[in-house]
Amino acid sequence: MKILILGSGGREHTFAWKIAQSNKASQVFVAPGNAGTAAIATNLPIGVNDFESIKKAVLEHQIDMVVVGPEDPLVNGVHDYFLNDEALKTIPVIGPSKKGAQLEGSKEFAKQFMARHAIPTAAYESFTAKTVEAGCEFLETLTPPYVLKADGLAAGKGVLILDDIAEAKKELRTMLVDAKFGEASAKVVIEEFLSGIELSVFVLTDGKNYKVLPTAKDYKRIGEGDTGLNTGGMGAISPVPFADEVLMQKIEERIVKPTVKGLQEDEIPYKGFIFIGLIKVNNEPYVIEYNVRMGDPETEVVIPRIQNDLVALLEATAQGTLNELDLRIDERSATTVMVVSGGYPEAYEKNIEITGAETIEDSLVFHAGTKLNNEGKVVTAGGRVIAVTSYDEDFREAVKKSYQNIHKLHFDKMYYRKDIGFDL
Ligand code: AMP
Ligand code: GLY
Repeated sequence: MKILILGSGGREHTFAWKIAQSNKASQVFVAPGNAGTAAIATNLPIGVNDFESIKKAVLEHQIDMVVVGPEDPLVNGVHDYFLNDEALKTIPVIGPSKKGAQLEGSKEFAKQFMARHAIPTAAYESFTAKTVEAGCEFLETLTPPYVLKADGLAAGKGVLILDDIAEAKKELRTMLVDAKFGEASAKVVIEEFLSGIELSVFVLTDGKNYKVLPTAKDYKRIGEGDTGLNTGGMGAISPVPFADEVLMQKIEERIVKPTVKGLQEDEIPYKGFIFIGLIKVNNEPYVIEYNVRMGDPETEVVIPRIQNDLVALLEATAQGTLNELDLRIDERSATTVMVVSGGYPEAYEKNIEITGAETIEDSLVFHAGTKLNNEGKVVTAGGRVIAVTSYDEDFREAVKKSYQNIHKLHFDKMYYRKDIGFDL
């Protein structure tokens, strides 16, 4: 099979690495990809939302399957675009249609879905510019901190958690009336604050059957001790040590099963990954959010622990036969540490040469924001640059291995958190 992966981050490099190992994959393409994917697959210079160019490439290269990495093209309807096109409609797309992608594309849609299917989550109300005064009154009924969420996609920045009621009201107005996040904050969900420890559960579903993939925990803040600005993710660990059998049983019965059943009941076809962000409050799991794709950098620890042929799993997802396969998971822990450009998540420089990656032998190196420059050198092209993933029986040893190998990697102003896993 010829397989096209859409995206350009560490997640997509990990997919390409795993898919390239499959006997079923004759050729792997990545659009647009990065310097890491260029070394193991064919990069195509096409943006993930340029559906017409994607169509051309799919027909030209006779692609047999498309795997969608990020949420944007899914929310924009890439799967529907394929289904509605005579020449593309038989080519499987891994990732939900536009309707299913609303689980991530609209916080209100996700909350209503959870309410309808009795899936545990924080209590909430949603408001628009017209009902901003009612929103302020609702804030008065809550105890701090206050959780405000832009309804739509806001590049991971749409959630505000505020201690002060006056500030919460001010931010609510800024979001609704002044369009702080543009169209994404035309509606705002105000939620009850849940206090606990977070973990993520990943599910692969064909719409009726599902497989629960390994759990992971990511580290979102830029600074050690979980301080400073939010990032796309600075590191991850799989499995999550506190996700014991009892908790996983609760998650599967109360959250995973009703989610997949709910999609069926609501007649939302869904073939792809569901990333469920959870918080454990007094040993009970609650959903914080759904994402309709794999996480990044969670993919860099989850996929390396899956021993199955990924193409076989994705084929079964497309065909609705996931029930016929058994997952085989590596018992060892996998950890990843993300190396980023100095300044990230604020302004940072690009086009800085990266050296040493090829000298790393006992860790996996997944490129994120990298590219090949005109001279064929690997240079930085984004905030998050390279993820270094390691295995060990003990996650602490695995993290140590990643740090030892990061020492072999060099670029000007590189930065990484030195405390991944500190809280476990
Ligand atoms: P989200 O974009 O929905 O994942 O939210 C970003 C982060 O905000 C989450 O990872 C949580 O740390 C936090 N968060 C979101 N909703 C809540 C909530 N209801 N209670 C406590 N923390 C929350
Ligand atoms: N690491 C969080 C995400 O992929 O959304």
